[in-house]
Amino acid sequence: MIELENVSARFKDAAGTVIDAVKDVSLTLAPGAVHAIIGPSGSGKTTLLHIIAGILVPTAGTVQAQGITVSKLGESARDAWRRKNCGMIFQDFRLINELGPLGNVLVPSWFGRNGGTDIRRSARDLLAHFDVPARSGPVAVLSRGQQQRVAMARALVLSPQIILADEPTASVDKVNAERIIDELARLADEGRTVIVVSHDERVAARADHVIEILNGTLNTANGAQTEHAQARGVH
Ligand SMILES: Nc1ncnc2c1ncn2[C@@H]1O[C@H](COP(=O)(O)OP(=O)(O)O)[C@@H](O)[C@H]1O
Ligand SMILES: [Mg+2]
Repeated sequence: MIELENVSARFKDAAGTVIDAVKDVSLTLAPGAVHAIIGPSGSGKTTLLHIIAGILVPTAGTVQAQGITVSKLGESARDAWRRKNCGMIFQDFRLINELGPLGNVLVPSWFGRNGGTDIRRSARDLLAHFDVPARSGPVAVLSRGQQQRVAMARALVLSPQIILADEPTASVDKVNAERIIDELARLADEGRTVIVVSHDERVAARADHVIEILNGTLNTANGAQTEHAQARGVH
């Protein structure tokens, strides 16, 4: 269970203007479900996602995950927590262009854990699962859809309990978008906590909970349960 209590994030832009990107958000995110965070551009979705992942520390409020107050940890403890518990799929993928698919999927194994044969095997299995050849030259030459699937394999290689995806369907074609949505649903069915930021109606339609954010404020407390979730019997 992930719990956000009265979380706010305030930035100052270059001119010194204060921006309240996230305002007093309280939210509970249960495992075994897809939680869609939806809202227009600039509404605070990415900021909220980065707060949940411990990339950003809220300026007020707390974030707890499995009993740990992640928002109170120092930077290196937060990084270690995130590497152990979170799989991130960034909007711009953040792949290393010069490396091939396998090299990219193995990046999380550079830190802390030894990149043993188990990790190599799971990297290869994931790439096969996502229909990307492990050795197909640098990822820079792959299609957007293939790059997205490499990013997804990388997010999953250490088997994280929490999956966070930022606009994963925004820059891929319809077939790849459907595929990503299917994968996210499958990961939730495995019992993981899946949090996906999107303004894609197809993502919201398949999510178990939809959390609407507007100007940094939640429209729906705790994420209204969707008809889809009710049909699946998910709480
Ligand atoms: N590092 C930052 N410094 C200053 N302003 C920021 C920063 N990150 C986000 N913002 C501002 O916070 C608001 C919310 O941004 P963001 O979370 O990226 O929205 P969304 O993902 O919904 O498009 C925007 O006004 C954005 O310009
Ligand atoms: Mg964003």
